[in-house]
Amino acid sequence: MRDDSCFWRCFPCVFCLLILLALCQPGIVGTSSTGIGSHYNCQYTTGLCGVVFFDDQQCGDNYCRCCGRSEPDHQPYYAECVLHKNNLTYIPQLPRSIRYLNFAVNNLIGVPLTEHFFSNVTHITDLALIYDNISHIEQNAFRGFRNLTCVDVSGNHNLKNESFRVLMAIPGLQYLSAHSCQLASPPKDLFSNMTSDVVELQLSSNIPTDYICLYDLTAYSALDKLRSIDIAFCSICTVKTSTVVRIQSLNLNDNSMTRLPESCAANEVSLFPNLSSLKISENGILSLKEACLPSLTFLDLSSNSMALTHFSITQYPGLQTLWMKNMITDRFRWASNLFSHPTLEELHLEGDNIAFGSEEIVPNTVFANCPRLTRLSLAKNNFENVDDARFLELLGHLSLEELNLSKNKLSSFSLSTLSNFSNLSRLELMGTDLSSIPDGAFDSLKNLSWLNLTQNEITTITKQTFSVETRERLNVLYLDRNPFTCSCELMWFRNWFVSDTELFHRNASSQLQYKCNNLPGTSLASFTMVDQACLMSHAMNVVIVYTCTLFIVTFTIASLVFRFRWNIRLALYEAFRGRGDVRRLRLLADHFDYDVFVSYDKEDLPWVYGKLMPELEGRLGLRLCVHERDFIPGNNIVDNIVECVQSSKKILMVFSKDFVRSQWCQFELTFCMNHVMNYDDVLLIVCVDDVASRDMTAAMMAVLKTTTYIQWEELDDAVRSFWGRLRLALHEIIPLDGAL
Ligand SMILES: *[C@@H]1O[C@H](CO)[C@@H](O)[C@H](O)[C@H]1NC(C)=O
Ligand SMILES: *[C@@H]1O[C@H](CO)[C@@H](O)[C@H](O)[C@H]1NC(C)=O
Ligand SMILES: *[C@@H]1O[C@H](CO)[C@@H](O)[C@H](O)[C@H]1NC(C)=O
Ligand SMILES: *[C@@H]1O[C@H](CO)[C@@H](O)[C@H](O)[C@H]1NC(C)=O
Ligand SMILES: *[C@@H]1O[C@H](CO)[C@@H](O)[C@H](O)[C@H]1NC(C)=O
Ligand SMILES: *[C@@H]1O[C@H](CO)[C@@H](O)[C@H](O)[C@H]1NC(C)=O
Ligand SMILES: *[C@@H]1O[C@H](CO)[C@@H](O)[C@H](O)[C@H]1NC(C)=O
Ligand SMILES: *[C@@H]1O[C@H](CO)[C@@H](O)[C@H](O)[C@H]1NC(C)=O
Ligand SMILES: *[C@@H]1O[C@H](CO)[C@@H](O)[C@H](O)[C@H]1NC(C)=O
Ligand SMILES: *[C@@H]1O[C@H](CO)[C@@H](O)[C@H](O)[C@H]1NC(C)=O
Ligand SMILES: *[C@@H]1O[C@H](CO)[C@@H](O)[C@H](O)[C@H]1NC(C)=O
Ligand SMILES: *[C@@H]1O[C@H](CO)[C@@H](O)[C@H](O)[C@H]1NC(C)=O
Repeated sequence: MRDDSCFWRCFPCVFCLLILLALCQPGIVGTSSTGIGSHYNCQYTTGLCGVVFFDDQQCGDNYCRCCGRSEPDHQPYYAECVLHKNNLTYIPQLPRSIRYLNFAVNNLIGVPLTEHFFSNVTHITDLALIYDNISHIEQNAFRGFRNLTCVDVSGNHNLKNESFRVLMAIPGLQYLSAHSCQLASPPKDLFSNMTSDVVELQLSSNIPTDYICLYDLTAYSALDKLRSIDIAFCSICTVKTSTVVRIQSLNLNDNSMTRLPESCAANEVSLFPNLSSLKISENGILSLKEACLPSLTFLDLSSNSMALTHFSITQYPGLQTLWMKNMITDRFRWASNLFSHPTLEELHLEGDNIAFGSEEIVPNTVFANCPRLTRLSLAKNNFENVDDARFLELLGHLSLEELNLSKNKLSSFSLSTLSNFSNLSRLELMGTDLSSIPDGAFDSLKNLSWLNLTQNEITTITKQTFSVETRERLNVLYLDRNPFTCSCELMWFRNWFVSDTELFHRNASSQLQYKCNNLPGTSLASFTMVDQACLMSHAMNVVIVYTCTLFIVTFTIASLVFRFRWNIRLALYEAFRGRGDVRRLRLLADHFDYDVFVSYDKEDLPWVYGKLMPELEGRLGLRLCVHERDFIPGNNIVDNIVECVQSSKKILMVFSKDFVRSQWCQFELTFCMNHVMNYDDVLLIVCVDDVASRDMTAAMMAVLKTTTYIQWEELDDAVRSFWGRLRLALHEIIPLDGAL
């Protein structure tokens, strides 16, 4: 009764599994299983009538359905006669075209399985008798078969050793599955004195009722065709053999092993000289002391909580592929050449939480001397503090072709470092918190065909992200589950996404994961923006950029002009003053009492005495007519002015607010203007403070319009420039020995 309850608990799962398998690989016929560690299933898993093949019809006394048409005659090749329990206890006649028979879940308890029982289907190649309550199979039961290559008797809980032997002895049988049959470790001599063609044996989930966790492989030494044994999920704690077993592949996943199978006989001779693939993940392996596995190329040690201090890769001289996934490793310093190996090609160190940033734990040289290592997965570890230099120190010397850095926080590391690995053809950067891809980051990887950037924080992809060549090189590109910001900028990517069906549309479900993060409920494919709108906004951008640039340039120039305004004015003055030689000659020819007549208001006297006179008289040696000093006392002031003006070579007017208000100054100005008409180029104007134009008299305005004036300011620069300009304006009358 216990068995039945288990059966009914398990059956729905198994059935679902079959359907799933069927859906996953529809229509695959005749998969080869010769590869090491490959897994062959009888063909009932690849086609289920009504699920995969819809051209089914009743057959086999209406107990069966026949389906799957084969070329060229369109006859069905697959039959299923399932789930009839006690109602179907014989195998009905089926079309001659049937190759694969699924005869599952029919209660055959008490039905003798003889040669006669199978007489209606001796032409088939694949036979499934799963969950049929079979406990005994007659010695000659399969004698009538000519082409039987695959038999599955899984789920028959009471199958005995003898029946196991009968099955193994089926002539021509290559694949035998007997999962969940409670078969114990075979007695040492179970297969002696018989021939077996079986190549692959699947015995997972066999936990006998009288469970002893030791599994003895000795019996299999008699089977010289046998290459592969799967005894996963069997609660095995020790595997041993007393003679050499020449199998090539052994699957011990999900058992309770604490160490590898004993593989060394006396004198270091191997008990498994041909074993090339060993899977021993999900066990309790604690140490890997010694191993004699000269042919081992594939080793899966994943999910064993093993300390790496107990691991020495050199024990496996031909190793090519090593899986060490999810092995919560120790925090001790690794041996400095932990993974150095002359033949190692592929290494998986995923999910181990290894702190690659710490040299205390991972020495620089752990991957040194790995000349063949081209495929490496370091996914789901700790990449804190792994910067470009550290990354290259660890891996820079490897000529990697496939690299998996998924689920690492690559914050200190820049994608450009990957350009050192120019042979990379496959790169996984899923879930690495990348927020942007620098333009052309992958352009130097000239062999890159496969790139997974799923689950990052990428918001936009532009035309520059991948060069045309890179885009052409890629066969696979995953960018789903990124928070795209759907805007004009993304339109280019959106159009690429929609148009490149090869690249993006291989998987309908992942395609749904391309979404607009800023527009909830909008998928990338359905996102559109009128081209005009994008062009407009593009034009707007151009206008804004140009305006800003223009403004900044203007502002800069204006600032510079203001800063150097005095120097510029001086330069301009100098440039436009014209030739002074002729005037100089004229001035020298006439007789003058004074060089310069200075017209000013008395309020500006301090400036005239303190600044102007020391410069012009003291330094330049000019004679000034300053009325406070030089007007002849007693004379009429008008006469004085007229006389002074006429006997001066130049007239210098000191404009100021006070000048405006002074009547005498205004008179001097008016008089001078007449004088100026007759004598070109005699008038000089300096402004000693800011006179607003509305305060000026019409005469002042007129003068200022035609005559350049020199502005006085107290700044050092300005003062220097003021004197410079004044000196230039007076240069024709400065005595030649005057200081310059
Ligand atoms: C067996 O046959 C009987 C009578 O034809 C039917 O009622 C019953 O449902 C069948 N059982 C199964 C499991 O098909
Ligand atoms: C073979 O098939 C026929 C027709 O379905 C059936 O009557 C017969 O009993 C079958 N033979 C055996 C040995 O089951
Ligand atoms: C197997 O046989 C037992 C009786 O021994 C029965 O209760 C059970 O239903 C059978 N299983 C199937 C799938 O018919
Ligand atoms: C079955 O085997 C025979 C010879 O053993 C062969 O002639 C025949 O073609 C095979 N049939 C199929 C379908 O493989
Ligand atoms: C079948 O195996 C069991 C142990 O699992 C053993 O006791 C028994 O003798 C074996 N029978 C044969 C025929 O070898
Ligand atoms: C195998 O055959 C040999 C003789 O050829 C015999 O001595 C031995 O008992 C046989 N073993 C079995 C298990 O039948
Ligand atoms: C086992 O390997 C040896 C060489 O190491 C080879 O000669 C022999 O054929 C192989 N045996 C099998 C069954 O593969
Ligand atoms: C890379 O690592 C992730 C995380 O472990 C895994 O899901 C993915 O399958 C790996 N990719 C390849 C190509 O092995
Ligand atoms: C990585 O590439 C840079 C530039 O191409 C080069 O200078 C540097 O030597 C390379 N580093 C390694 C470790 O290959
Ligand atoms: C790329 O591969 C070629 C041939 O396998 C090799 O010669 C070259 O050194 C590799 N380059 C890099 C950077 O790994
Ligand atoms: C480029 O990649 C292809 C597979 O994508 C591979 O066959 C070829 O050897 C690679 N070339 C180099 C130089 O690595
Ligand atoms: C790319 O990464 C995603 C992330 O989970 C993964 O689901 C997908 O399988 C990866 N693509 C391939 C082809 O392995």
